[in-house]
Amino acid sequence: MEVKEVSNNNSQHSGVVSEMFAMGHEKVLICQDPKVGLKAIIAVHSTVCGPSLGGTRMWKYKNEAEALKDVLRLSRGMTYKNAISNLNLGGGKAVIIGDSRKDKSPELFRSFGRYVESLSGAYITAEDVGISPEDMIHVSKETKHVSGMPGKSGDPSPVTAFGVYMGMKAAAKIQYGSDSLSGKKIAVQGVGHVGEYLVGYLAKESADIVITDIHDDILKNVAGKYGCSIVSPEDIYSVDMDIYAPCALGATVNDDTISKLSCNIIAGAANNQLADENKHGHLLMEKGIIYAPDFLINAGGVMNCYAEVMNISNEDVMKMAENIYSTTYDIIKTSQLESIPTFLVANKMAEERIKRELALKSS
Ligand SMILES: NC(=O)c1ccc[n+]([C@@H]2O[C@H](COP(=O)([O-])OP(=O)(O)OC[C@H]3O[C@@H](n4cnc5c(N)ncnc54)[C@H](O)[C@@H]3O)[C@@H](O)[C@H]2O)c1
Repeated sequence: MEVKEVSNNNSQHSGVVSEMFAMGHEKVLICQDPKVGLKAIIAVHSTVCGPSLGGTRMWKYKNEAEALKDVLRLSRGMTYKNAISNLNLGGGKAVIIGDSRKDKSPELFRSFGRYVESLSGAYITAEDVGISPEDMIHVSKETKHVSGMPGKSGDPSPVTAFGVYMGMKAAAKIQYGSDSLSGKKIAVQGVGHVGEYLVGYLAKESADIVITDIHDDILKNVAGKYGCSIVSPEDIYSVDMDIYAPCALGATVNDDTISKLSCNIIAGAANNQLADENKHGHLLMEKGIIYAPDFLINAGGVMNCYAEVMNISNEDVMKMAENIYSTTYDIIKTSQLESIPTFLVANKMAEERIKRELALKSS
């Protein structure tokens, strides 16, 4: 096992280090174990509010630079998500470079677990895209800094989906005057772990659901179970819709897609939905599209992991996820009253929490 660790305490820096400095990361660990085919990056953005917690993503990145950019952005997002959710957790994230359908092995996850262990609790891992609770069993043989284990809090996706559903309903209450989603045309992009549970909630309310996914098997299964229509991944942006629910990867709200979207609400599970937060956050507000901030409404999963770490009951976790409704409602109202995009109101709320923690620590 080769450990390359870069900490935020050196004035001579370039490349990866300058990128992490610019984004305010505390620590980035580059992990390579050729024997088991592991290439991974663990980013600890902040431990101000507690140990950093965030899932591990396994994805076929085009190159290492793309993976690095992703993990730096995602880990910073976790700092904001955990802060706004009032959890005593900081923000971190990990990415494993590889194809989750071909490149998994118990040895690879055990090796990854040893890297997590080497951070001595500064980073607690969990599932994200491409990772299952079963994979976490292998990780847990090497480190106790792992959550989302089967038999404990398990798969966080159902709670994530519930929180997204709550955020979507709060946005609907403001946009339509009622939080009922009955008959609303909702386009769900990506019907994996979270997307499928979300479709379940929407189907119960008799929403008019259209779905897409890059995997035909998943798509047909979900469409059959819940009676949704199907479109190709390229066509999802231009379908007639009231609500767009991105539940695949980030940056799908961008220069190309905004002009195609006919929705007046965006509320989904994906992290970093706005390709350029500032530009696209303002543009959505100008167009009258309510954007329910991703890191606020998809926090159900991390609440679930927090419950496992802190021994909180399932019932209390669902209550925490239910509160996403009122926080989303308040943020959208403030955004409208003060003519500030929702992402900025949410960011400010998270930053104020971090400032309060810093003040407590230095007093
Ligand atoms: N799992 C959680 O609890 C959780 C918590 C917070 C945020 N999120 C975020 O929500 C999103 C979904 O997470 P998940 O756990 O459901 O992942 P997942 O891998 O189970 O599902 C993602 C689905 O999106 C599909 N997909 C990928 N690219 C696509 C594209 N271009 N067009 C259409 N479909 C595409 C995949 O085939 C897959 O079925 C991710 O962005 C993740 O970071 C997940």
